[in-house]
Amino acid sequence: TKGSHRHFMEKEIHEQPEVIAHALAHYIDFADNRADTVAGLDFARIPSLAISACGTAYFAGLIGKYWFERYARLPVEIDVASEFRYRDIPLSPQSAALFISQSGETADTLASLRYCKELGLKIGAVVNVGDSTIAREADAVFPILAGSEIGVASTKAFTCQLAVLASLAIGAAKARGTVSEDEGQALVRNLAEMPRIMGHVLNSIQSKIELLARDLSKCDHVLYLGRGTSFPLAMEGALKLKEISYIHAEGYAAGELKHGPIALIDQNMPVIVIAPHDRFFYKTLSNMEEVAARGGRIILITDEKGAAASNRDTMHTIVLPAVDEIIAPMIFSLPIQLLAYHTAILMGTDVDQPRNLAKSVTVE
Ligand code: F6R
Repeated sequence: TKGSHRHFMEKEIHEQPEVIAHALAHYIDFADNRADTVAGLDFARIPSLAISACGTAYFAGLIGKYWFERYARLPVEIDVASEFRYRDIPLSPQSAALFISQSGETADTLASLRYCKELGLKIGAVVNVGDSTIAREADAVFPILAGSEIGVASTKAFTCQLAVLASLAIGAAKARGTVSEDEGQALVRNLAEMPRIMGHVLNSIQSKIELLARDLSKCDHVLYLGRGTSFPLAMEGALKLKEISYIHAEGYAAGELKHGPIALIDQNMPVIVIAPHDRFFYKTLSNMEEVAARGGRIILITDEKGAAASNRDTMHTIVLPAVDEIIAPMIFSLPIQLLAYHTAILMGTDVDQPRNLAKSVTVE
C-alpha cells in the first residue's frame, strides 16, 4: 500500500535510505570495510566489460561505466539494449557482460543477454525481480533488493542499481589491485554513509523543491546539464520529468552546450545544472555563466562548497551536503526525482501510471 503517501512514486522516493542500506548490507562487510561482491564474475581476469540496459537502467549503467573505468581500470562498452546487438561490437569471449533491469523482463535487454551468451561471454544480471527471466538466464545474479517498485517512473530501483554497481566497481578494483587498501576502505566508508545522508536530504529540500516545481510546471521545455557522472544524471532527470509531467526535457553534457543547445536559451527555458563541487565544478560553472549571459534561467543543484563558489543571487539553488564523489550520483538523484514528482502533481498527471507507459516493456 501507499501508506501515508499520495502516490507509490512518493513512497518509493522516501524509501530510498532504507532500501539502499539493505542493498549495501548485502554487498559490503561494514565491520571490515570490505566489498566482496565479485562472486560469479571474475573481474580480476576479464579484459573488458559490456553493459546493456534500457531507459533509467541504462543511465545507471553509464554511471557504472565511469566507476568501473576509474576505480577498476576496466574498459566498459555500453549501449542501450535496443542498439547493442546491432552494432556487431568486437567483443572478446573472455569478457563479461552485465545487464541491468528492474523488472528483469525487458525484451531488448533479454535479447542482448542471449546475444552475448551466444558469443560465449559470462553473463551478470543486476535485477530487482529475483525470479525474472533475465535473472534466470544469467550466470551471476546481483539483486538490487529495492523491494517491489510500483510507480512506473523508476526511483528507488535506480539508486539501488547505482549502489550495487558502485559496490561491484569497488570489489572489481580490489580484485584487480587498482586501488590501495586504504583507498578501497575509504570508498566503502563513503558508501556506508549514504543512507543517513539521503534521509537528511529528503527532509531538508522539500519546500525548496515545491517552490521550484511551480516554476517548472509553467514551462514547455527544460534543459538539464551535467559533467562526469552528473551527465548521465542530467539525462535521467530529463527522462523523469518528461515521462511523468509530459514537459519536454533534454539532458546534455555541460560541455556540449556551446555545440548547439545554447541556441535554445531564453527566459522561457529553465536550465537545471547538476554540479557538485567535484573535479569538474569550475568547468561547469563557466558553462553556467554562458547560460546566464544569454538571459537563461538557472536552477543550480550543488553542494555547500559549490554554493559558496557561485553567485547565488543570479539563480535558484538547491544545496545538498558536500559528499564524496562516489556517492554524489545517488544523493543528487533525490532532488531530480522530487522535482519531477512535484512538477507532475502540479500538472495533474497520473503520476504512478503515466500515459502510454508500462512498467515492464516486453516487446522489442
Ligand atoms: C524510467 C523507466 C524506464 C525503465 C526501462 C527499463 O523511469 O522506468 O525507462 O527504466 O523501461 O526497465 P527495466 O529496468 O525493467 O529493464
